[in-house]
Amino acid sequence: MITVRGLTKRYGDTLAVDELTFDVRAGRVTGFLGPNGAGKSTTMRMILGLDHPSRGRALIAGRPYADLRRPLCSVGAMLDARAVHPARSGRTHLVAQARANGIPVRRVDEVLEKVGLTKAARRPAGTYSLGMSGRLGVAGALLGDPPVLVLDEPVNGLDPDGVRWIRRLVRDQAAEGRTVFLSSHLMSEMQLTADHLVVIGRGRLLSDTSMTEFLAAASSASARAVVPDPEERATLVRRLMTADGVSVETSASGELTVEGRTAAEIGDLAHHCRVRLHQLSDVRVSLEQAYMDLTARSVEYTTGGSSTDTTAAGAAPNEGGRQ
Ligand SMILES: Nc1ncnc2c1ncn2[C@@H]1O[C@H](COP(=O)(O)OP(=O)(O)O)[C@@H](O)[C@H]1O
Ligand SMILES: [Mg+2]
Repeated sequence: MITVRGLTKRYGDTLAVDELTFDVRAGRVTGFLGPNGAGKSTTMRMILGLDHPSRGRALIAGRPYADLRRPLCSVGAMLDARAVHPARSGRTHLVAQARANGIPVRRVDEVLEKVGLTKAARRPAGTYSLGMSGRLGVAGALLGDPPVLVLDEPVNGLDPDGVRWIRRLVRDQAAEGRTVFLSSHLMSEMQLTADHLVVIGRGRLLSDTSMTEFLAAASSASARAVVPDPEERATLVRRLMTADGVSVETSASGELTVEGRTAAEIGDLAHHCRVRLHQLSDVRVSLEQAYMDLTARSVEYTTGGSSTDTTAAGAAPNEGGRQ
């Protein structure tokens, strides 16, 4: 379990992390999401005692990192996969870490096997691809068989095979009851990997919720309909547009995308106006869209119209005339 309370970090004029409070629980994968510059790495560094909070605290199993007696056996971390001496072999790198933490050297070969680096273990780490460096980083995190894992953007630079491998690994680790805290700016990847989400923008907490709830809360009513007859289609669009908060887009093939109405509501209306439908379905919002909506709102809220900071939360403006 990781406990973060009022965690704040200021670098000069930059408020990198702003009063973050959340828990990362055992037995599930918690995704730490936010655009670049949101404060994810800074938060993780403070959790791991590599940076001092300006205010607040971060605890691992109830203690600050500095108070952990055998840190590698309490928390395994990968913050920067490239942070390895290039002339050292992957194995030598891990052996040094193991010795410093009282971990038997045979564990090094176990984790090398687990991450699929056995063959490359005696090559200088400087010759590794980004994907192999990532695997070495994960091997280091697993070395002490810790109950807590903190991985900063582990998917970066991995090929599709590596991405699937990481996903399976973290899911297995959580299934074994471990606490897994994983950052990413890749929404699509998180949607497949995480059970729970902590979303931040400009250092602030935007959401702390289960993946299911996050998607449900974000999915404003939206549906797609195919109306084969052009006149009936025009009738339906007219009737839909009379209500506030409804927008309709018509594709070249005559398919309607309706924001602000569910498939059931559109079906009832079509029945009422005697409009024939060939297809009708609710549109499920993707995590990507939910996330963009959330960070776009945070931009509006945090800038309050008075700031000229265009980098706010790094989110694209809300497209398509929704609202
Ligand atoms: N050591 C540092 N000195 C000054 N500013 C920093 C430092 N580390 C991070 N920052 C700033 O803090 C903000 C958050 O950065 P970071 O935690 O790296 O975000 P993320 O990992 O979400 O991309 C950014 O504006 C970044 O420029
Ligand atoms: Mg980062």
